Amino acid sequence: MMRVGQRAGGRSQQRGTDGGPDVRDAGSRPGETAGPVLRAVGLTRVFGQDESLVWAVDGVDLDVPAGQTLAVTGPSGCGKSTLLQLLGGLDRPTDGEVWLGGRRIDHLGERALAALRRRTVGFVFQDFHLMDELTATENVELPALLAGASPRAARHRAAGLLERVGLADRARHLPSELSGGQRQRVAIARALVNEPLLVLADEPTGNLDSAATHDILRLFDELRAAGQTLVMVTHDERVAATADRIVTLRDGTLADITPLDGDGRGDGGGTGLGALLSWED
Ligand SMILES: Nc1ncnc2c1ncn2[C@@H]1O[C@H](COP(=O)(O)OP(=O)(O)O)[C@@H](O)[C@H]1O
Ligand SMILES: [Mg+2]
Repeated sequence: MMRVGQRAGGRSQQRGTDGGPDVRDAGSRPGETAGPVLRAVGLTRVFGQDESLVWAVDGVDLDVPAGQTLAVTGPSGCGKSTLLQLLGGLDRPTDGEVWLGGRRIDHLGERALAALRRRTVGFVFQDFHLMDELTATENVELPALLAGASPRAARHRAAGLLERVGLADRARHLPSELSGGQRQRVAIARALVNEPLLVLADEPTGNLDSAATHDILRLFDELRAAGQTLVMVTHDERVAATADRIVTLRDGTLADITPLDGDGRGDGGGTGLGALLSWED
């Protein structure tokens, strides 16, 4: 049961403060940092007030090395979306730290955080979040334009990415003229347009049928092969099974279910995974 109500006494607020990430800010490109691409230390997000406090994320420590694909699983309401929003700088923790590319981001000002998000994080959401009045190409190129790319460069990148996700022939279509799976592929192309250090996906196949889910999983597999660091939240075991590593969230607290060893590929699709991941949602 997720913790609600007032915090029990005697529980330390401080955790995981040993050995912070290697900070190499000045002038270095994010991808060149030595530490993990993403690190959470004692990450906590509390909603509500007084008697109605909810610890949606409750002291999460997490390292995601460069090139790893991590699946975060768990039942509805366990804190997956809240965690993802904290990791991507869309929300701020009540306590704890988020480090991205060796840089602490949780205490950045709003403008700095927005700029950093734009350049280093690509988001994929369950309900796509495309701009209805923009074509596929325009949706994909928008974050590039916002990040300062020339119109020509942005258009070029958008065309290449739409090709890569198999939608070159839908480039001029509006979202309303595309299927759910096609919309999500546009959203993935958009997430990649600024070559992000990290892609974060929240239930990316949650609104898709199994054929479309298959297309998205194939794309994620390509991203994985290309060395893209990716954190995806899902309660779909087929999706989780494509990841290098799977962790589960219960009531805001993380528990590893696949060890990071060998080739780092975890137990994707192997025996017992279905049993480990079976829960009602
Ligand atoms: N903005 C919010 N205000 C209050 N409670 C919230 C808010 N966002 C999430 N919660 C609560 O935090 C818990 C975790 O929610 P969420 O992160 O959306 O879970 P999941 O994505 O795993 O379904 C739930 O109890 C939810 O009701
Ligand atoms: Mg959610």
